[in-house]
Amino acid sequence: MKVITSINEIQSEICKQRSMSKTIGFVPTMGFLHEGHLTLIKEAREENDIVVLSIFVNPLQFGPNEDYATYPRDFERDRALAESEKVDYLFYPSVEEMYPQSSSVTVAVHRRTNVLCGKSRPGHFDGVATVITKLFNLVMPTRAYFGKKDAQQVAIIEGLITDLNIPVKIVPVDIVREKDGLAKSSRNVHLTSDDRKQAIVLYKSLQAAKKAIEDGERNPDHIVNVINDLISPAPNAKVDYVNILTYPHLEPLEKLDGRFIIALAVRFSNIRLIDNMIFEGT
Ligand code: PAJ
Repeated sequence: MKVITSINEIQSEICKQRSMSKTIGFVPTMGFLHEGHLTLIKEAREENDIVVLSIFVNPLQFGPNEDYATYPRDFERDRALAESEKVDYLFYPSVEEMYPQSSSVTVAVHRRTNVLCGKSRPGHFDGVATVITKLFNLVMPTRAYFGKKDAQQVAIIEGLITDLNIPVKIVPVDIVREKDGLAKSSRNVHLTSDDRKQAIVLYKSLQAAKKAIEDGERNPDHIVNVINDLISPAPNAKVDYVNILTYPHLEPLEKLDGRFIIALAVRFSNIRLIDNMIFEGT
């Protein structure tokens, strides 16, 4: 595995691989790798000749009061994990390398951003779309792997590559969970043991919602109530949103029908956790 920190070097390596007609699987991350990230890497490894992993905590996607400074980082551990997953190139640029003082162009997302995480994190998806556009230009992947845990991110990236005509296939990967159902996240390490115990209520509430839908409930407001009623007894939980929208367009719906997503964001102390379930049509 080669660790690359410079833009010139990643471009010349990719150029070399593409001239040999190699397929390139790309997994963009912010590091502090866990089983969720490793599942994306494994899938990329199975389906491509070359695997590129990027680790870059992207300042552009964090708001002024968010956790950019405290976002967990451990490069040496990540490097060892990437090596054991047989990554070919680990791209690990500095902030100055990605955003020199002179940079003047960013990408703005106009749809799907006024709901869910876009609503609570203004500018977040512009930051994601900007960094992903840059990374796609550098890595020129055949396929890029994204987790369905960030379902709004997947939908927005699909819109980005369609609208800007970026020739890459997006591969959405299922959510990887802890044994008790909590979705794996780099931020879980910041949960206190009390918060960690209470956090299982997220997945429990989604499962209860699924059961109610399977039993015939079609009113989205009733399902939101089922979820809120299960989360509110957790003393440290503060609901940011519980929402049901069409997927991937993320529009409101009056009756649960067709493809839709139940998505939630809940704060424990100051750690914001997200989870969701996508329903493929009833
Ligand atoms: P990060 O949070 O590090 O996540 C990197 C990728 O791993 C994303 O596609 C995310 O959806 C996926 N992932 C995280 N937890 C997962 C889980 N439990 N199961 C399945 N997949 C999971 O998402 C980002 O970084 C950034 O926004 C990025 C796309 C890198 C742009 O900066």
